[in-house]
Amino acid sequence: MNRADMTTQRPWLYTQFAIIAAAVVLWWFGWFGVPPAPFEAFFVSMETWPVSKAIGESLWIYPLVQALHLVAMAFFMGAVMLVNLRLMGLGLTQTPLAQVARSAAPWIIGGLVAMFLTGLPQLMQNSSREYYSEYFWRKMSFLLVSLIMLTISMRFMTRQSDSAAAPSGFKIVGVAALVFWANVIIAARLIGLFT
Ligand code: HEM
Repeated sequence: MNRADMTTQRPWLYTQFAIIAAAVVLWWFGWFGVPPAPFEAFFVSMETWPVSKAIGESLWIYPLVQALHLVAMAFFMGAVMLVNLRLMGLGLTQTPLAQVARSAAPWIIGGLVAMFLTGLPQLMQNSSREYYSEYFWRKMSFLLVSLIMLTISMRFMTRQSDSAAAPSGFKIVGVAALVFWANVIIAARLIGLFT
C-alpha cells in the first residue's frame, strides 16, 4: 500500500476505532439494555391500536412475519458478511473493495427494509413486552452501532481505487462488527425466551 493511500485511509479507520471504543464503554456500563423512559407511554399504547389487535387475533400474520423476518435476516447478514470478510482481507480478495461494497449494497438495503417491515408488526403486537425487555433495547442499541459502522465501512470501500487494500487495522473493525452483529441476533432471540 502506498503512502497516499495510508493518509486517506487513516481517518476512516480511527473513526471506526472511536465508535468501537464508545460502544464497548456504553455496553460495559450496562447502557445497552435500558428502556428509554420518554417512549414508555407510546410503547404501552401501541398494542391497543386496532391494527395491532388485528395482528394478534389473526392465526397466520404473526408466524408469517416472524418467518419472513428470519428469511430477510439470511439475505441481509449474508451480504454484511461478504463486506466484512473482504474488509478483513479474508475473502473475495481478488475483487476490488469498491466493487464488493457496490454489489452488496442492494442486498443490505433491501434486507434491512424487509427486516424493518417484518419487525414492525411483531413490535406492534407485543409492544409493552418489548418496551420492558432489556434484550429488546440491547438488540436495538447494537443494531444502531452496527449500522453506523457498516455505513462508514461501505463508504470507505466505495472510495478506494481498484488496487487499494484495506489497512490491517480493519481486521479489528471486522471482528468488532461481527461481535456486535452477533449481539443483535442473540439479544433478539432472548427477547422471546426470557421476557
Ligand atoms: C430493522 C428493524 C428491526 C425491528 C423493528 C425488529 C423487531 C423485532 C421484533 C419485535 C422481534 C420479536 C421479538 C420477540 O418478542 O420475540 C424480532 C425478532 C427477531 N429479530 Fe428483529 N427487528 C429488526 C431488525 C433485525 C435485524 C437487523 C436482525 C438481525 C441481524 C434481527 C434479528 C431478529 C431475530 C433473530 C429475532 C428472533 C426471532 C425468533 O425468536 O424467532 N432483527 N425483531
